[in-house]
Amino acid sequence: MSRSLQEIKDEVAQKIAEAVDVETLDAIRVSVLGKKGELTQILKGMKDLSPEERPKVGQQVNEVRKVLEDKIAEQMASLKDKLLQDKMKRETIDVTLPGTRAIRGHKHPNQVAREALEKVFIGMGYEIVDGPEVEYDKYNFEMLNIPANHPAKDEQDTFYIKRNPEDTENDILLRTQTSSVQARIMEGGKLPIKILSPGRVFRADEVDATHSPSFHQVEGLVVGKDVTMADLKGTLDQFAREFFGPGTKTKLRPHHFPFTEPSAEVDVTCFKCHGKGCGVCKGSGWIEILGCGMVHPHVLEMCGIDPNEYSGFAFGIGLERVALLKYEIDDMRLLYENDVRFLSQF
Ligand code: DAH
Repeated sequence: MSRSLQEIKDEVAQKIAEAVDVETLDAIRVSVLGKKGELTQILKGMKDLSPEERPKVGQQVNEVRKVLEDKIAEQMASLKDKLLQDKMKRETIDVTLPGTRAIRGHKHPNQVAREALEKVFIGMGYEIVDGPEVEYDKYNFEMLNIPANHPAKDEQDTFYIKRNPEDTENDILLRTQTSSVQARIMEGGKLPIKILSPGRVFRADEVDATHSPSFHQVEGLVVGKDVTMADLKGTLDQFAREFFGPGTKTKLRPHHFPFTEPSAEVDVTCFKCHGKGCGVCKGSGWIEILGCGMVHPHVLEMCGIDPNEYSGFAFGIGLERVALLKYEIDDMRLLYENDVRFLSQF
């Protein structure tokens, strides 16, 4: 035997004690106890010993093996424990440190205004309905009493997708008003009707502080028996009070819309100065917010509803208009640029 077992045991024990990581320790184990390890070699060499020596040496080797195995296991456990301690130290979280604030999204002022509007009308029993943004001339104009030669149909006002002078009813366009939903619902034939239809509309306008080629309207339509102008006025009063504040009053000014008769534009008392006159109402004390009227008998007729039996009222609110007013924003373009610094204020 080249080295005494005692020498091997001492030297390896020393190495084990000095091993600083799991890999080194494992390499030591393989070099002594592995298939080609030093102790294994000694056991293999025992065939050359005399039969008397063999059991003695065998027993000694096994003793050394046991001692080294125990030492390795012990050191391995301590190294692993150290690894765990280090990891825990590295991964400790100080819950008392201030956190990093996540950037949260905001509802767009248009959306806030739309939800507030819907809430008011749902409270009065209205159903919210949707209509197509790409629409037939028939629903956007014709059935609303806006005939073929009407100036609103001009390409300067309306975005057309498909036009045919021989068959204007089937022209396809981007709806210029949510009033298009009125014709669709009335034509549907289910009575009575009490709907609110918010949505996007399009007009061939240049962008400026008060105009945009795309904006939003909220259409209201009520059709039933004995629906009167007083119902319209009462509804708008209720809406104004809930939306702008309890003291808000409304004023109906005569106006003209082809699909209503009589028609009116509606002003509300300025929610900022309550009628005294200020920057928001441009000194007048009143703010115009919508168009409305009693559904024209001819419109009812065209939609298959008997005007002798049924009557109705309708209104169209400019969503941006009320959003700008409510939040005292003076330029509509701010609503479309989606600058987070602007939007985060709402
Ligand atoms: N559609 C009209 C517009 O775009 C607004 C309007 C007026 C809607 C009177 C109505 C209404 O329903 O009755 O200017």
